[in-house]
Amino acid sequence: MVYAAILAGGIGKRFGSSDIPKQFLKINSKPIITYTVEKFMVNPDVNKIIVLTPKEWIDHTKEIIKKYNSISDKVTVIEGGASRNETIMNAISFIENEGNLNDETIIITHDSVRPFVTHRIIKDNINECRKYGACDTVIPATDTIVESTNNDSITSIPERKYFYQGQTPQTFKAKELKEAYESLDDKQRDILTDAAKIYIITGRFVKLVQGETYNIKITYPYDLKIAKSLIEEENND
Ligand code: CTP
Repeated sequence: MVYAAILAGGIGKRFGSSDIPKQFLKINSKPIITYTVEKFMVNPDVNKIIVLTPKEWIDHTKEIIKKYNSISDKVTVIEGGASRNETIMNAISFIENEGNLNDETIIITHDSVRPFVTHRIIKDNINECRKYGACDTVIPATDTIVESTNNDSITSIPERKYFYQGQTPQTFKAKELKEAYESLDDKQRDILTDAAKIYIITGRFVKLVQGETYNIKITYPYDLKIAKSLIEEENND
């Protein structure tokens, strides 16, 4: 079974929208999250989609998916967790409760606020996860990376060719991801930035999948402006 977990459990603090989390804001009169869900809905290799939102947004999410996405029993909306990784663990618990958590179960984890993911990226994620057990979507770093461990002056400038920017999806064998996460102590969980890091700090292998520069995450209001023009471009194609 291949599950997609659409991560929408955040409240968008950095975006700064006062009463509505950024994933529910509209572009061309359609909520951002429904563009993202659509990409997985039309993919025949994805068997089920789990959308995870804050508890108080579950009903709203169900309504908009019914309204803007073709109605499908492929989608379930459930509550997210206190952190992004806890949200992923809620998705895995759901899979377990359905009786589908086995060694072959794949979970594609994807940010709800990355609506420009492509069919090719999803396909590559599934294939590479089948082959290697885990993969992460990245693009080569374009700017030089400057490290400052004292946040005041440069401590090193690493060679750019070895650096990438992480995107999503990040795709895993669901059972192994759960086991890896459960093996971490609180201190290790505190320093997690994303799910791939669970694999890295437990010494596991994560294959790279090529992303796209336009597979952007809407984090700040400026990103929404870019997303609007990208969607207009998609519509004009
Ligand atoms: N996310 C989640 N559960 C959480 C926190 C985040 O599912 N507890 C999701 C967000 O909804 C988003 C994705 O993870 O789709 C990427 O995270 P980010 O852009 O950081 O979203 P927010 O946490 O909402 O934003 P901020 O960090 O600015 O508060």
